[in-house]
Amino acid sequence: MQKLALVLAALLALGAAHAPRSLSIHTPNSPHLSGFIRSSVGLDLCPTCVEFTGEAINMLLNLILNAGIVGSCGSLCNALEQKTGSQALGVVCDLLCDIVGIEEFVKLIQKADLDPIYFCELLKTCPINDNGDATITGLSIDPVKGPQGPRTISFTLNSKNGTGTGELVLLVKTVDGMPIEDSMLLKAENATAFPAPQSLSLKAEQDPNCDPSQGPCEQWLAGNYTLMIDVCNGECGSNHPHSKIYDRKEVGFEITEQ
Ligand SMILES: *[C@@H]1O[C@H](CO)[C@@H](O)[C@H](O)[C@H]1NC(C)=O
Ligand SMILES: *[C@@H]1O[C@H](CO)[C@@H](O)[C@H](O)[C@H]1NC(C)=O
Ligand SMILES: *[C@@H]1O[C@H](CO)[C@@H](O)[C@H](O)[C@H]1NC(C)=O
Repeated sequence: MQKLALVLAALLALGAAHAPRSLSIHTPNSPHLSGFIRSSVGLDLCPTCVEFTGEAINMLLNLILNAGIVGSCGSLCNALEQKTGSQALGVVCDLLCDIVGIEEFVKLIQKADLDPIYFCELLKTCPINDNGDATITGLSIDPVKGPQGPRTISFTLNSKNGTGTGELVLLVKTVDGMPIEDSMLLKAENATAFPAPQSLSLKAEQDPNCDPSQGPCEQWLAGNYTLMIDVCNGECGSNHPHSKIYDRKEVGFEITEQ
């Protein structure tokens, strides 16, 4: 699944008080973790935890189950740092592991079953709200018809009860059948946190950085496309507790010949 083509420009600001979100959570080798550490004053552990877990949980499970490294937070996190070559991952690992101690940390990693949001909720670094709700209204894409090139996606999120820690997923059904998907963390919010329309940008043209030797590159051929947005409590599609799809909306657009 290609994850590069959707560029959520730093436009998505849920509520004026919140900084724009970057789309970093599911990208491997993210440069963002070191940024989190540098700015650890007033650190919100939830996004840090989710990003860390997305990158490290596979390796952590491997270290625990196959290498049997469970002695202490230090030994597990050091092994993670060695294996990944990332000091940032080692530091965040220590930070999170020390919250509950090695035994509980190992237990929760196994229980979380590769679901980063659920893991961070179990670790009590992300808030849970199972009475939350959200609907997507006014979804549109501009230009709806035209040649390849950037599109602006607009929509509004409404909530009566607020939301739990969750996820926004964008998926484009393409003409050549290659699914294009991207996602971002939605922090738990009060209902009042969703006033303005949200704006994201979709780069509907071939990514010059896409390397065909690493897998097929979406070419954005002429034809009809469908953009689908899911807003979820927890990870979209997860069967774990504190997870459900709040709402899903879709909109079509057409790419014409140049
Ligand atoms: C909002 O929360 C209340 C309980 O606090 C619950 O009864 C109600 O079903 C929730 N509404 C939605 C839309 O989930
Ligand atoms: C929601 O509002 C309550 C009180 O009105 C506040 O204590 C809480 O921190 C708020 N939560 C978020 C996520 O903003
Ligand atoms: C896309 O859909 C529109 C409206 O349904 C249709 O008129 C048009 O021919 C379609 N374009 C292609 C390239 O299939």
